[in-house]
Amino acid sequence: MMYYNWKQTTNTDELKIVCNLIKNGEIVIFPTETVYGIGANAYDEKAIGKIFMAKGRPSDNPVIVHISDKKTISEIAREVTEVEQKLIDAFMPGPFTLILNKTDKIPDIVSGGLPTVAVRMPDNVIARGIITFSGVPIAAPSANISGRPSGTAVEDIRQELEGKVSAIVDGGETQIGLESTVVRVIEEVPHILRPGKITPEEIRDVAGCVKFSNGIFEPVSENEKVESPGVKHKHYAPKTPAELIYSKVDGTLIFELNRMVKYYKGDVVILGFEEHKNNIVVSKHRFISLGSKNNLEEVAKNLYSALRKADELGGQIILIEGVEKRGLGIAIMNRLLRSCGYRYHEF
Ligand code: TXA
Ligand code: MG
Repeated sequence: MMYYNWKQTTNTDELKIVCNLIKNGEIVIFPTETVYGIGANAYDEKAIGKIFMAKGRPSDNPVIVHISDKKTISEIAREVTEVEQKLIDAFMPGPFTLILNKTDKIPDIVSGGLPTVAVRMPDNVIARGIITFSGVPIAAPSANISGRPSGTAVEDIRQELEGKVSAIVDGGETQIGLESTVVRVIEEVPHILRPGKITPEEIRDVAGCVKFSNGIFEPVSENEKVESPGVKHKHYAPKTPAELIYSKVDGTLIFELNRMVKYYKGDVVILGFEEHKNNIVVSKHRFISLGSKNNLEEVAKNLYSALRKADELGGQIILIEGVEKRGLGIAIMNRLLRSCGYRYHEF
């Protein structure tokens, strides 16, 4: 396995090597602006099969196809409607994925047997360079073992994926830290299948309306119909049990957390806001800061690394401070609820 450090600049000789690996049906870890992906030629079924093997991913969970030029959309998708085109114009490139009707060029393994394909144009120089010079769209799920938190830095995922891929391209910490907003337009109404950096408000501004699909804030049962198969699978989970706690009132939140710390006799890890670091009675090394509660961008960016760190520390339970379900807070709470297996208390 090759490791390439492109934290400062992209090395063009190495870029050629990486793109040749993709052309030859190998799989490669690379950065995007959201999280790291494990990519392969989207037209090569065998190569995509290797991604599913490396991740231990259920085969009914389709993967996103990444493009570097909007012209590619007509190659992989058909019957793009007016509303869909508006969303493409507004949010691509960016942390946004649109579900479209697929063409025959997209193999079933990419779409999980569905008649649709998820299309995303990342806003990241390295990702775009790799797609452009490979000359094919790149199918890529997030770089992590299935069910685990997504990788936002190579140090976090190297251990679990090393040896399972042909190359790792290190572009440093990813800028956003949460996966893209996934949208499907149904009867001219954009439905959010997975919230992300592009907020419902922003989508409504472009399309005039917006809806949430089921499974954003609550679990869906086995036989319930979902738009996105990913909703049904276990996700973003640390190995240690975790619980999410929220109150609009800071004092109440701190009080409840301290009560729980006492109940567990201090054998806990707190994932909390910088502002609360001195108010929660737990040994210093058991408090992991998510960043400032007034800076949700920072919280989003730190989230997955913090979950992984908490897991390494271990303890009886991880207690996580929640945020208001508004703006980027919607995506943060969606991921946290799922990491906790929906163990959530609001006071
Ligand atoms: O930011 C991102 O989106 C990252 C980076 C690497 O681009 N990718 C990512 O991929 O998060 P993944 O595979 O971890 O999540 C893709 C999500 C899953 O929930 C999957 O079920 C959904 O998109 N999805 C993919 N294709 C779909 C389709 N045809 N219909 C409905 N949902 C789809
Ligand atoms: Mg994922």
